[in-house]
Amino acid sequence: MSREIRITPSILNADQSNLELEIERVSHVSDLIHLDIMDNVFVPNFTYDFGRASTLIAGCSIPVDAHLMVVDADRIGPEYAQAGCGSVTIHAEATVNISSTLRSIRAEGSRSGLAVKPKTEITDYVEFSDLVDMFLIMTVEPGFGGQSFMMDMIGKIERARAMIGSRPIWLQVDGGISETTIEIATEAGADTFVAGSAVFRSQDPASIVEKLRHLANSVAD
Ligand code: DX5
Ligand code: ZN
Repeated sequence: MSREIRITPSILNADQSNLELEIERVSHVSDLIHLDIMDNVFVPNFTYDFGRASTLIAGCSIPVDAHLMVVDADRIGPEYAQAGCGSVTIHAEATVNISSTLRSIRAEGSRSGLAVKPKTEITDYVEFSDLVDMFLIMTVEPGFGGQSFMMDMIGKIERARAMIGSRPIWLQVDGGISETTIEIATEAGADTFVAGSAVFRSQDPASIVEKLRHLANSVAD
């Protein structure tokens, strides 16, 4: 049986004045909605405060995949899990006590995710494998949508896949995923794909999600 593929569109580059509608345009063809939370400290950009994010999470008809690009992830991670996210991902670089934060996220009923920026090596975090439901490899520097996929992350995706082995951990990639890059990321071992501008800068976002899924499935082993 081939690897299960998941597409998790990011609404970072969707129409921010109509977000509920934008989510509806893709939710029937997506696995989760990727919600980028930025605090203007961990990354030089700000997205939503907790109140706005909670409203989006509560109103979303499919599970939300929160990607927390914030300092103080130890405190904020469990809060997003409690708000009802299907998955909460914290950054290894922003978390003081990774084990207890991952445990708290799970205890609130959410899947737990651990992300690394391009310069951070994923194999340094192998010890957390039993506490993690998803590893996230950033394939751009976090902070903004619309950047180019960093081809030099391919080796890291391969190392992450090898590290995961037979564990049921999802392997997500985020940044520059499009119809031209999804196959190479899949071949390297990713199974869960964030796509922001490729989806929402299109006239027909749902058809792009379907195309991405089809392309990934066509090369998944
Ligand atoms: C960037 C965010 C991404 C962003 C991806 O820091 O984490 O989720 O929305 O956007 P694209 O797909 O346009 O690279
Ligand atoms: Zn993201």
